[in-house]
Amino acid sequence: IAGAAETNHRGGPEVIAHRGSSGVAPENTVAAITTAREHRADSVEVDVQRTADGELVLFHDCTLERTTNVEEVFPDRESRVLSDYTADELAQLDAGSWLSPEFAGEPIPTLREGIRALGVRTDLLLEVKVCEGEEGLGEAVADGLREIPGYLPRALALDSLVVQSFDHEQTREFHDELPRVPVGLLFGARPTDAELADAATWAQQANPRYTLVDQELVDQVHSLGLDINVWTVNEEADMTAAVDLGVDGVITDYPQVLRELLRTS
Ligand code: G3P
Ligand code: CA
Repeated sequence: IAGAAETNHRGGPEVIAHRGSSGVAPENTVAAITTAREHRADSVEVDVQRTADGELVLFHDCTLERTTNVEEVFPDRESRVLSDYTADELAQLDAGSWLSPEFAGEPIPTLREGIRALGVRTDLLLEVKVCEGEEGLGEAVADGLREIPGYLPRALALDSLVVQSFDHEQTREFHDELPRVPVGLLFGARPTDAELADAATWAQQANPRYTLVDQELVDQVHSLGLDINVWTVNEEADMTAAVDLGVDGVITDYPQVLRELLRTS
């Protein structure tokens, strides 16, 4: 999924499930990944962070209270910051009930569990989620991926993995560790010419918030040989606009809606 030549293989942008199929299942859980596969997403975007004892887990927020029952399980702990908890402690949390009782008991998955849930046909867009004060996460993610038996050789052969981050420095550190894995740079503000020109020397994707994107930006990114994935596109009208702009991937909480739109358009 890294190069423009490999994209649009089904006649449109890649369908990328944001935090899994997070519109209907709890974000960044195995349930959300499994649902994204059922929704025929091409790829699943998830966020990766590091626990106090160095395990890599899939989780979006820097703190635990929005999407888990941490207050119930650890009422006396002062910190709600994920990286202050060990993997064993996190394993005690319910990361599903906040969305619906249907998902009660859904755990926070490790990176390894998330990758296992993807199977071999669904690609991975892995966001290195760097919270305040976090250092060395790019390198830790490279190590974590290396430690999953058989995964990296397979991902490289299938071109099924991209690593991205808003933290471009740590993306670069990841890239220095594993230069053959394609990387993407996330942009919450419109990228400057200089940022894009630099990205083109070592990254494969520039991935901006969809509200920043127009034809000029898409063409500029493509002219530099980069792919462009936009996020987080949940309204059908915005999906259509992104498709018409010729982006390479659309990151959405509702991959089933985008899949249907592509099928019927
Ligand atoms: O993949 C891009 C998107 O996930 C970035 O925003 O906050 O949902 O991680 P966020
Ligand atoms: Ca993300």
